[in-house]
Amino acid sequence: MSGRKNRQWLLVSRPEGMFTEQNFKWVEAPIAALKDGEILLRNLWLSCDPTQIGWMKVDTYVPKVPLGEVMRAIGVGQVIESRNSSYKAGELVSGFIGWQDHVAIGGRDLKAVQRLPPNVPPELMLSLFSTGMTAYFGVTDIGRVQAGETFVVSSAAGAVGSIAGQIAKILGARVVGIAGGPVKCEWLREEAGFDAAIDYRAEKVGPRLSETCPQGIDVYFDNVGGEILDEVLPRINLHARIVMCGAIADYVSREYRPLRNYPLLITRRGRMEGFIILDYATRFGEAVPVLAGWYAGGRLKQKVDVAVGLENAPKTLARLFKGENFGKQLLKIADPPLPVLS
Ligand SMILES: NC(=O)c1ccc[n+]([C@@H]2O[C@H](COP(=O)([O-])OP(=O)(O)OC[C@H]3O[C@@H](n4cnc5c(N)ncnc54)[C@H](OP(=O)(O)O)[C@@H]3O)[C@@H](O)[C@H]2O)c1
Repeated sequence: MSGRKNRQWLLVSRPEGMFTEQNFKWVEAPIAALKDGEILLRNLWLSCDPTQIGWMKVDTYVPKVPLGEVMRAIGVGQVIESRNSSYKAGELVSGFIGWQDHVAIGGRDLKAVQRLPPNVPPELMLSLFSTGMTAYFGVTDIGRVQAGETFVVSSAAGAVGSIAGQIAKILGARVVGIAGGPVKCEWLREEAGFDAAIDYRAEKVGPRLSETCPQGIDVYFDNVGGEILDEVLPRINLHARIVMCGAIADYVSREYRPLRNYPLLITRRGRMEGFIILDYATRFGEAVPVLAGWYAGGRLKQKVDVAVGLENAPKTLARLFKGENFGKQLLKIADPPLPVLS
């Protein structure tokens, strides 16, 4: 690898509110010689995830990214050199690879590395078998949706939301999605099989929820937080479950936004529960065959939105916060340089 440069995006300052390209610095660093036990990846695909803005700002379920270090990102890479007998050059793996062309991984960090199952392309590994896991366990374990119940999901045309709604539909619920814009709403109704869709940018969410959920709401899968959550709360049924998956509206907002209607959880005996998908890592094996079966049978549609070029990493991540992505946002940064081993 001597002489080859590793292009990288370093995090150099912490954003307040939304991040900008100025929070990062583009550098070209040498690739260090591999140590015993390490593998060297050529990074191919990056996953763009709303949680990355949290990684820039504060310690959460993982420590914040230290200033001056490569911006953390999940992705898929190809092993191009190995000093670890468990890995061969040519294998495709996923893990925390960062906004860079190459990464050397060894020691404890290898525990977070997963081989791609045979016949699973990187796009599917980073969507259905990644954000799809969040949807699966959020719906089944936290939401515990039952046939005949009414299920509402926000950011419904996004990576997690689109799969969550389709899973609830497969499990027999009436499903209503909330998304931004007529194109996303039409896709939810016509392609993803949702019973109704609400365009929160053009329509009044409260009255439309009353219209589309005449029996009230049993499960709300919340990806957004903020005002939409406040419109859902007055419409929940007794023993409703609110799945606190994400709160993207609050990740960039610097205003204090009180949740006026949360006391309704008391009278309706509702449950609001947060979860982090990493806690389910030991149960991924349960979800994989189920998701794969639904997908292969055409019952689950996985939409991906692909941008290209490592230089576009900050811009591509920003698309999530402007509603520009449609389905799972990915960034392709290279093609495999070696034949792929499966
Ligand atoms: N708990 C966990 O373990 C876990 C794991 C993965 C993801 N998550 C969370 O799940 C949520 C969805 O993540 P994702 O990866 O699937 O992203 P995504 O939904 O594919 O993309 C983000 C979407 O959020 C919507 N959005 C952005 N700003 C908004 C605002 N102010 N108000 C309403 N909607 C807004 C946009 O859709 P519209 O065009 O519809 O506005 C945008 O397309 C995020 O909150 C994320 O943090 C949680």
